[in-house]
Amino acid sequence: MKQFTGISALYFIFFLSVIFLTSCQSTEYPVDYEQLGKEERIVIRFSHVVGEDTPKGMAARKFAELVKERSNGLIEVQVFSNGTLYKDGEEMNALSRGDIQMIAPAISKLTDIVPEISVFDLPFAFNSLDEVHEYALSDIGEKLTNRLKNHNLLVAGLWDSGFKQISNSIRPIEHYSDLEGLRIRIMPSDILTKQYETLNAETKRTDFVTVFNVLQNGNVDGHENTLTNITSKNLYSLQNYITISNHGYLGYLILFNYDFWNSLPEDVQQLLTEILQEVQEWEWQLTKEMDQEKLQEIQHCAIQLHTLSEEDKLEWEEKLQPVYDYYREHYSERFIDALPKFQN
Ligand code: SIN
Repeated sequence: MKQFTGISALYFIFFLSVIFLTSCQSTEYPVDYEQLGKEERIVIRFSHVVGEDTPKGMAARKFAELVKERSNGLIEVQVFSNGTLYKDGEEMNALSRGDIQMIAPAISKLTDIVPEISVFDLPFAFNSLDEVHEYALSDIGEKLTNRLKNHNLLVAGLWDSGFKQISNSIRPIEHYSDLEGLRIRIMPSDILTKQYETLNAETKRTDFVTVFNVLQNGNVDGHENTLTNITSKNLYSLQNYITISNHGYLGYLILFNYDFWNSLPEDVQQLLTEILQEVQEWEWQLTKEMDQEKLQEIQHCAIQLHTLSEEDKLEWEEKLQPVYDYYREHYSERFIDALPKFQN
């Protein structure tokens, strides 16, 4: 297993201590930063809003474990899940203040600071997660996400939650016209508002941690989310119908406070980058597997399932064309034109 071998001041001090101890006791002591006081370690506080049993929750834990193991405890990643430390609306401010060092918000929640990033929210923009990854990692995709640097944010990766489905408690959504008049909870993104406006549905923006309550107390009729988020919070138990529409992508940008990142020694940055790369690939695979598992699971629940056919999807896509027009008019042409669906 790859070990942390960078030359840092702490390493040097411990190297000397090891020599000293071994010469006194003729015993070998591995460099073990676990012995350091909290103030001597590098602590990364990582806050997110979903459950531990989701792809994001599991990837956050894996990241923390690998960092601890490969830095021999020099770097400690403290993960706060379920919005226990900060809710959606709060975590970005906490990151800017430096109260936490790392977050992984849904991309839709970054559209207030970089509106063009809502290209990821466009309905039926991607046919597969591989297409999303290809776009995000392309030159134009990186130009887009790197706009977050102007906000003191370093983008250190992309994790998936998957494609969103639509659930509600009023009626089956088989045709897009079935959404008319329904009140749908969405994440804060003008493209998502426009999407439902085009289908004559009302929207309400709420934090993820309140979704269970707003569905339960009838403040909204339904919502759109990925199967892992829906099952992890038992949201399907409050809804009668779910449509497997796979109409929109939900993914996360892994963000560090840039000042904090720049304050880290180069070898620490390199170690974190390598681990994040490994975790990203692991997370992408995990999301695909979990999404399939959750689909099987939900088929046995007391919720009526409808799956859009490929033909239906084309019809929805056509109906939702004004959302693309809105994006082009308000944000940019080039980020849309670079989408894989417009490349052939
Ligand atoms: C998340 O997956 O981080 C939250 C998604 C949502 O707000 O619906």
